[in-house]
Amino acid sequence: MDNPKTPYFLVDEARIVVSIQSIRSSLDRYWPNNAISYSVKTNSIPCVLKVISKLDVWAEVVSDAEYVLAQECGFSARQSICNGPIKSDSFLKSAIESGALINVDSVAEVIRVMQIAAGQYVKLGVRLNANDAIDSSDMMCGDGGSRFGVSERDGELRCLLDLVAENKNISVSGIHLHCNTKGRRKENYARLVEYFSKIVHQYDIKSIDVFDIGGSFGHDFDKQGNMFGLWPSWDDYFSTIANELSKNGFSSRALKLIIEPGSSLISDAMDYYTTCLSRKTIFGKTWMQIDGSRIHIDPHFTRKSFLGTIECIANLPVQKERSQYFCSVLSGNTCLEKDRIYVDGHPLECSPGDKLRFKRVGAYTYGLSPCMFITPPPEIWFMAKVGEMTRERMPQWIGKMH
Ligand SMILES: Cc1ncc(COP(=O)(O)O)c(C=O)c1O
Repeated sequence: MDNPKTPYFLVDEARIVVSIQSIRSSLDRYWPNNAISYSVKTNSIPCVLKVISKLDVWAEVVSDAEYVLAQECGFSARQSICNGPIKSDSFLKSAIESGALINVDSVAEVIRVMQIAAGQYVKLGVRLNANDAIDSSDMMCGDGGSRFGVSERDGELRCLLDLVAENKNISVSGIHLHCNTKGRRKENYARLVEYFSKIVHQYDIKSIDVFDIGGSFGHDFDKQGNMFGLWPSWDDYFSTIANELSKNGFSSRALKLIIEPGSSLISDAMDYYTTCLSRKTIFGKTWMQIDGSRIHIDPHFTRKSFLGTIECIANLPVQKERSQYFCSVLSGNTCLEKDRIYVDGHPLECSPGDKLRFKRVGAYTYGLSPCMFITPPPEIWFMAKVGEMTRERMPQWIGKMH
């Protein structure tokens, strides 16, 4: 067996299984008629998808490539949720034929579905714009509001429903609401339910039997700095959603609740390893050059802290001669000035030759890292059992799709 060469990611199957079990046991308790649909864009490495697909989880996909990859990795087309504003004709055609749930993002998309379906009966989900449901100060996208979904306020939902009413081969069976929030508070989910209920009642949409409430649940990735333990638990989230749905007259018998966890499901299950190369001092600060990069674990350079997530694994054979340094900054291998990781306040004790492990970096990391920037992307390794590691390779066809 090859040995992993740093920098590399290590995916841990057992942690994916535990994560899904804890979501499912809570969700089943509060709303038995449910589906967990994994947001594939969060981490679409095949070994990750293959583990998740075996656990009766659906796939939430937003592109042709994700849709095809998800099926190659064991998800059924029927248990796919097709989201996003950029669905190609072939993606829509295949989704219609297989009975996947299509959440349309605009009136224009409904017109395309009608044309492509050519008379075949289609049950659609409609993604509603969430700007009237969630306080803009808590939206990750900021004051400009969300760009996704159909706006009720601007009359576009009315227009969409009228269009559907004129066509006997199309019905609206689902409402989808997703909003990335900063606070990830359970109260936001109560608001989403309230808004869903208001729309269903106000527009008297009798055909609704699915409510897809999206993702943005709290997760370990965000439990940085002082956030540790501050997120609601799964029970907090699901009891809030279930209470609010029941209060508004919905029951689990008649309504399927879909959730689309991304980071909350996968962030905990992947770690990143890099090696310390050499040390230097600049204006009194100790910098440690590493062979990895911040672009692999924080591609948008937005993470405020890595506190509590870095572990130093000493290079044992040379331990006797090693000099231990307290480093304030880790220096990435890309030669971008910004490619640095501050560990100020809690200097890291490490030495050239040591390995550093960054824990819980499974979400929005590898998938957003450039395929080729100065160096090839990091290796990916998969651990099915402790000590049993295999090298994972991304399918070649992905880069050749267009
Ligand atoms: C429609 C949709 N569903 C689910 C998710 C997953 O969100 P998260 O990773 O916060 O759980 C996203 C992410 O942006 C999304 O856009």
